[in-house]
Amino acid sequence: MSNKILVTGATGNIGGPLVQELKALGADFAVMTSKPGATIAGVETRHGDFGSVASLTAAFKGINTVFLLFPLVENKVDLAKNAAAAAKAAGVKHIVRSSGAGADSTTTFALPKLQGEIDDLLAATGIPTTFLRPAGFMQNYVAYQSQAIKDGAIYMADAGQAQSLIDARDIAAVAARVLANPATHAGKAYTLTGGEAFTGEQAATTISAAIGKPVRHVSVPTEAAVATMNQWGMPPFIVNVMDSLNKIVSAGYASGVSPDVENILGRKPRTFAAFVGENARVWK
Ligand SMILES: NC(=O)c1ccc[n+]([C@@H]2O[C@H](COP(=O)([O-])OP(=O)(O)OC[C@H]3O[C@@H](n4cnc5c(N)ncnc54)[C@H](OP(=O)(O)O)[C@@H]3O)[C@@H](O)[C@H]2O)c1
Repeated sequence: MSNKILVTGATGNIGGPLVQELKALGADFAVMTSKPGATIAGVETRHGDFGSVASLTAAFKGINTVFLLFPLVENKVDLAKNAAAAAKAAGVKHIVRSSGAGADSTTTFALPKLQGEIDDLLAATGIPTTFLRPAGFMQNYVAYQSQAIKDGAIYMADAGQAQSLIDARDIAAVAARVLANPATHAGKAYTLTGGEAFTGEQAATTISAAIGKPVRHVSVPTEAAVATMNQWGMPPFIVNVMDSLNKIVSAGYASGVSPDVENILGRKPRTFAAFVGENARVWK
């Protein structure tokens, strides 16, 4: 049976490498972007916005398996409701949803609760669904910590606890295999972590060795992190979800290592040391 795949979020941290993985697998796929007029070279590009059911229903036409990745925005649940309605209207046969580690609609932690609510509403579509629940991305050290590292310190509200960060390229590699063979993964939820947990202090030591400059790890209380985010003018929604993540890490809940990446890929997850080696120039 044919399996036409649609990748949403195709220009992001996960979606970018996912496009490459699907090309390498020779999969039949298209990508969706919300940017009018934008295309991804060499790939069928469809236009759709999670804010519009009509645009999504058109983008999902003829699609067997859809990869759903929603941006981290306050109305994320509404965007997911739109995608669920469009998937049903367009006759999508399988949903692969990029969620987050610990997703659980009954938890009191803000971000996993939000992710869990979305997982629940997608499961309630009755369309066979696979949930990918990644831990924090190694790429955050490039996206959010570069200037601080150049200035010699990594500030984290982590109470010195370890995290099992994952390289987003491994999430993409898992997603590609699930998308290419969705029936095998129907009804499953995978927790995607790196192969080791390490502290911020260990991360600072690894980066410091790679760039040949001292980098300190500074652990700040979660309340101080909230005050700083507010000072920076970050939206209250983002401050709240980031604070929930800081509390999860500080309680030691982000240090678990899952075997799911290795089980699906048949190889170990990429290591932080390798990631740092590849990205050292960014922090110099
Ligand atoms: N960073 C972490 O440590 C971490 C850990 C676990 C889970 N997560 C979750 O992972 C997700 C982010 O993944 P990412 O980093 O790969 O994404 P990203 O780099 O932030 O990219 C977001 C993607 O969403 C698309 N998008 C934005 N607005 C849209 C709209 N209105 N309609 C359709 N598409 C839209 C963008 O594509 P266009 O602009 O082309 O439309 C873009 O490809 C979030 O849900 C976050 O909660 C993150």
